[in-house]
Amino acid sequence: MNIAIIGTGYVGLVSGTCFAELGNDVICVDNNEEKINALNKGVVPIYEPGLEELIKKNRRKKKLVFTCDIKEAVRKSKIIFIAVGTPPKDNGDADLKYIEEVSRNIAKYMNNYKVIVEKSTVPVETNKWVKYIMQLNNHKVDFDVASNPEFLKEGSAISDFTHPDRVALGVESERAKKLLLQLYEPLKAPIVVTDIQSAEIIKHASNSFLAAKISFINAVANICEKVGADVEKVAEGMGMDKRIGESFLNAGVGYGGSCFPKDVKAFIRIAEKLDCGFELLKDVERINEKQKKLLFKKIEQSLWILNGKTIGILGIAFKPNTDDIRCAPAIDIIKMLQGEGAKVRAYDPKAMDHAKKILPNVDFCKNSYDVARGSDALVVMTEWPEFKRLSLTKIKKLLNHPIIIDGRNLFDAKKMKKSGFKYTSVGRPDL
Ligand code: NAD
Ligand code: UGA
Repeated sequence: MNIAIIGTGYVGLVSGTCFAELGNDVICVDNNEEKINALNKGVVPIYEPGLEELIKKNRRKKKLVFTCDIKEAVRKSKIIFIAVGTPPKDNGDADLKYIEEVSRNIAKYMNNYKVIVEKSTVPVETNKWVKYIMQLNNHKVDFDVASNPEFLKEGSAISDFTHPDRVALGVESERAKKLLLQLYEPLKAPIVVTDIQSAEIIKHASNSFLAAKISFINAVANICEKVGADVEKVAEGMGMDKRIGESFLNAGVGYGGSCFPKDVKAFIRIAEKLDCGFELLKDVERINEKQKKLLFKKIEQSLWILNGKTIGILGIAFKPNTDDIRCAPAIDIIKMLQGEGAKVRAYDPKAMDHAKKILPNVDFCKNSYDVARGSDALVVMTEWPEFKRLSLTKIKKLLNHPIIIDGRNLFDAKKMKKSGFKYTSVGRPDL
């Protein structure tokens, strides 16, 4: 099938590449020339395990092309996915200006029947606006609008895309339904077909529910800390109940990334606009913000005065296996530390280039040991597997004091105590 993906970011690039791998002819479009030029030279602008090889393979087979020419992409394609960003406005609303711009452009160049699919995460009823704008700009050509929200996670995007728990298809015509079912058939995945509004809500509700799960376990972690209980055991005991499930019950410094923070906000806003309100989600946000402050307090409690101290930060990305630092809790913690006059040394296996652009006063190190050298305490902000393999003996020798504050419960508390560290984590007893 001939398909176009407009917006070649995390979602557009991964979806486009995977659709090509499934045998489709895919044109990925972006208005960022630098990005398209890089991709055409074989340079992949994001770090996502396995993606580079898959892009290379499908470009070679001419199944995947990159262009800035939206006109040609629209004309050649039957299904057109919109995968541009939907960032938050200052008031929390999703900013839909890129969606509007792309809808206008698709309408302008459409020459025969197409299905226009929202893949970006959008508030409910966005489809109606897309349809309206398209009709306003082209009343001659027949088209359908559909919603196919994306559920992939950064770091495991390819396997999430190719082995999804479910595919959600919001459609309002048999013709669009048939085409989209045909496109997804090779995945052999469970498919939920629904009206478009419901598909839009499935996405916001899923992300908000997962964020709520994280805030719930973080609130429980704080109770555990007060009484010397262990949140990991509590999560294990809760998660064994199939109705609850074990995933997304890892307590820590809170959720970050380009999606949960913005999507929770956008869902609150759309609920307010529809006169429904969603106080529960406001608490989810409050708990998430509090988690970062609590971790900062733990750093303070381990060193008392932070002014003039050097703090080593392990991990900047919002989670492991990505170079994405959007809304990464590490950035908030680094800024809080600098606000108190502390010096910060930091290392991340993949996110350093992005971090250097927005954190000018951090001493970026070549590896974790370099971070520990001369630091007064070490703070784990991202649970990169390589941190778990560090030699604790070496780390201890390099640190000014054997202090580790673990915002991701990466290390075994008993082992840390045995190795002579003053070790603090989240929701687990300090031994
Ligand atoms: P991104 O910022 O990485 O990529 C968006 C791309 O769209 C950019 O390359 C930008 O240049 C391009 N773009 C903007 N306006 C354009 C236009 N007029 N014409 C052509 N290209 C244009 O964003 P992302 O992380 O891929 O997210 C895209 C959407 O998917 C968002 O709504 C997001 O919430 C959703 N989503 C993201 C993820 C994720 O893991 N990142 C997962 C599921 C859903
Ligand atoms: C999330 C969702 O998991 C995807 O399904 C969704 O498609 C995507 O958002 C999106 O809409 O963009 P992602 O942001 O890539 O994916 O990463 P997650 O693995 O969900 O982690 C988000 C944040 O929650 C990270 O900061 C992570 O450290 C934190 N987290 C996650 C916890 O603190 N505890 C957990 O148990 C799980």
